[in-house]
Parts: sequence; structure tokens; C-alpha cells
Amino acid sequence: MAAVAFACRRPASVLPRISKAGSPAVLSADPAIIQKRKIHHAVIPKGKGGRSSFSGVAATVFGATGFLGRYVVNRLGRMGSQIVIPHRCDQYDLMYLRPMGDLGQIIFLEWDARNKETIKRALAHSNVVINLVGRESETRNYSFQDIYEEIPRAIAKATREAGITKFIHMSHLNADIRSPSKYLRNKAVGERAVREEFPDAVIMKPSEMFGREDRFFNHFANMRWFGKAVPMIAMGKQTVKQPVHVVDVAKAIVSAIKDPESNGKTYVLVGPNRYLLHDLVEYIYAVAHRPFVPYTIPRPMYHMAAKFFEMNPFEPWTSCDKIDRFHLTDMKYPGLPGLEDLGIVPMSVEQKAIEILRRHRRFRFLEAELGETKPAKTVDI
Ligand SMILES: NC(=O)c1ccc[n+]([C@@H]2O[C@H](COP(=O)([O-])OP(=O)(O)OC[C@H]3O[C@@H](n4cnc5c(N)ncnc54)[C@H](OP(=O)(O)O)[C@@H]3O)[C@@H](O)[C@H]2O)c1
Repeated sequence: MAAVAFACRRPASVLPRISKAGSPAVLSADPAIIQKRKIHHAVIPKGKGGRSSFSGVAATVFGATGFLGRYVVNRLGRMGSQIVIPHRCDQYDLMYLRPMGDLGQIIFLEWDARNKETIKRALAHSNVVINLVGRESETRNYSFQDIYEEIPRAIAKATREAGITKFIHMSHLNADIRSPSKYLRNKAVGERAVREEFPDAVIMKPSEMFGREDRFFNHFANMRWFGKAVPMIAMGKQTVKQPVHVVDVAKAIVSAIKDPESNGKTYVLVGPNRYLLHDLVEYIYAVAHRPFVPYTIPRPMYHMAAKFFEMNPFEPWTSCDKIDRFHLTDMKYPGLPGLEDLGIVPMSVEQKAIEILRRHRRFRFLEAELGETKPAKTVDI
């Protein structure tokens, strides 16, 4: 069923004959969900699934070099997809992505987000486009407006003009035009821009993601370097968080690609439990076997400290915007579909925290059992 959804029928000129090894069942799939594009024959669905077969998906993943990107590329690669990765970094910084697909199935292209030709070139042979471009702080060259509104708009427009029918855009759970965070305000405008350019886009709204390379759990765990105590506005007792595991978000993207019904929908991707920020950070420190010393800090003072970090022209460790974002209660959207609608059972913080936090432990606690740690208290607000 899954293969049917993204099967691609080629024009006769591109596909002169169908080999017996191919899957006739797949090729005779419902024409309504088959996209007719001149795509290289190497992506005709073939094989039993797995890295060395062909799923029929030829995906361009913008922002693949980031935290979520590697999980998405890996998930696409392991079901045998062709993946185009537009990048702006050095070749050596991409090496970890190379083994994620079969030989020749991962294609790297340089792109410049302001150059429309490079966007067009990147998606010229794809039938799926995924936008994961993002940044935690503004730079001299790119403001949040550029990153979360202009770039998604340009990619959505190019995708529509190329006749591609599947476009997945990554937004944020708390994207809101009235948010105190500029990041989240621009995310909300970006969502609207994407819908204007590409009404059938699949918009994903994940909460803060946790995973090995995250900037959420690791951020709080690393706070111990600054005076061994954790500053939180109102001790984190007025903020409710519902973090989601990064692998669940990657799985959701792949399921949305396979599901023809997903077009035009907005998905809310959250974990199974809600926690007070205070309890969550306490659990992070418990798993890391580090003393948890929280203290309350007024927002203006916290911002003043963050301004010092913002002077870093590269990747500031924190910022006023990030502080505001982390102290916002995660919104609830009872009317919107979520992970379960994509057939995914979300993983809890308790199931995955050890993978992320073991490296924050002292040597003598490296092998300590997780069972000794009390799970974080959940809330229902
Ligand atoms: N992380 C979370 O907890 C979270 C939660 C909710 C939503 N999201 C959203 O999900 C998406 C992916 O998140 P992530 O954590 O994987 O982001 P990330 O690690 O910051 O990666 C972002 C990607 O965007 C690329 N990028 C940023 N600015 C660019 C520019 N001006 N031109 C070209 N490429 C640019 C980066 O390329 P370089 O490597 O070259 O910089 C990188 O590949 C983002 O839209 C983010 O806002 C994330």
C-alpha cells in the first residue's frame, strides 16, 4: 500500500518497457496519486524495500545538514529513495550523510537560498520536496524573515512551478503571529506564505525536538558549566512542555510522503506526555547524575545575560529569543491530526533520555541503571 502511494509513472519515452523484475502492481497504481514527471528511470519502484531497492521517491531535502535532516535522509535512504541534498557547506561536512543511501542515490548540490535558479536546479528531478531550513538565531546575512518566510516561499513557488505534488514544510508547534518570540512570529507568517504558494503543502508543527544532537535537553544539561545552577523564569513552574523525539518527526515526514491523503493538511507532532519545564529539567539532571540546583531569574535579567552570548557572531549558545521560546507553554490543537494519524506511536522522554544524556554523566555513573531514576511528573494542562 505504501509503495503504491508514491509510485511514479513515466512517459513511454522515459520507460520504453517494464522489466519483469519491476512491480506491475506498483506501476498500475491509482492514477490519481501517481505523479507524471520525467524522472530518471533509476527511481522506478523496484525491489522488496530497503536501502538497495527503489521506493519511487526522489526527494529534495533543503536543510538536510541540520539536526532533523540527518534522520530524514536516513529514513528516506533506508527505504531506497533518491535524495538530492542542496547544501552550502564544505564537502567534508557532508560525509556522514553519504552512507545513508545506496551508491549514487544521494546527490549533493550547492545552492544559495537567494538564487532561484539553484532552487529550481535542486528540485528539477524530484517528486517530493522537503523544507527543513531553519536557524536558531539571526545572522548579518539572514534574518528570521528570510529564513522562515522568504526561503520557504521561494521553495514552495519553485515546487509548484515544477509541477511537483508533494511538498512538506517544517514549521513549529508554537508558531503564532502574537508570540513574544520573533522566530515563532516568522514561522507563523511562513506557514501562511507556504499555503499561499502551495495550497496542498503538508505543514508539520513539531514541538521542541529531543535527540542526540538536540539543542533542548543538551542545552539544559550544559547549563551546569555556568555556575552549576540552572536559571529558569519562575523556576520553570509556569511553562508546560510536550517534547517530541526527532525520530518520530522523521517517521512522520516519511509517512506523509507515502500517504496521498496528507496533502493540504497541517500535522501537530508532539510527544505523549506534558511536563512542567521544572520537572523536565529536574529529570534531565537526574538521568545525567548531576546535582540539580534551579534558581528563578526575572526575564529582563535573563535577557541581559543572553545579550552577552548574542555577541558571538557564529552560533550563539543562547539568545533572548531562545529564552522566550523555551519558556512558552506548548499549544494544544485538538482539531488537527497528529503522529497517531500517520501511524506513529510517539516515544516518551523516559524511553529515549538515556541515549541523549549518558554523555553528560561522570565516568563512574556511565553504566548506572536508568531504573534508579524516578520518571518526570506529567501534567494535564
Ligand atoms: N530543533 C527543534 O527542536 C525544532 C522544533 C520545531 C521546529 N523546528 C524546525 O524544523 C526545521 C529543522 O530543524 P533543525 O533543528 O534540523 O534545524 P538546524 O539543525 O538548525 O538545521 C537547519 C538547516 O537549515 C540550513 N540553513 C539555515 N539557514 C540557511 C540559509 N540561509 N541558507 C541555506 N541553508 C540554511 C542549515 O544549513 P547549514 O548547515 O549550512 O547552516 C541546516 O541544514 C527548522 O525549520 C526548525 O525551525 C525545529
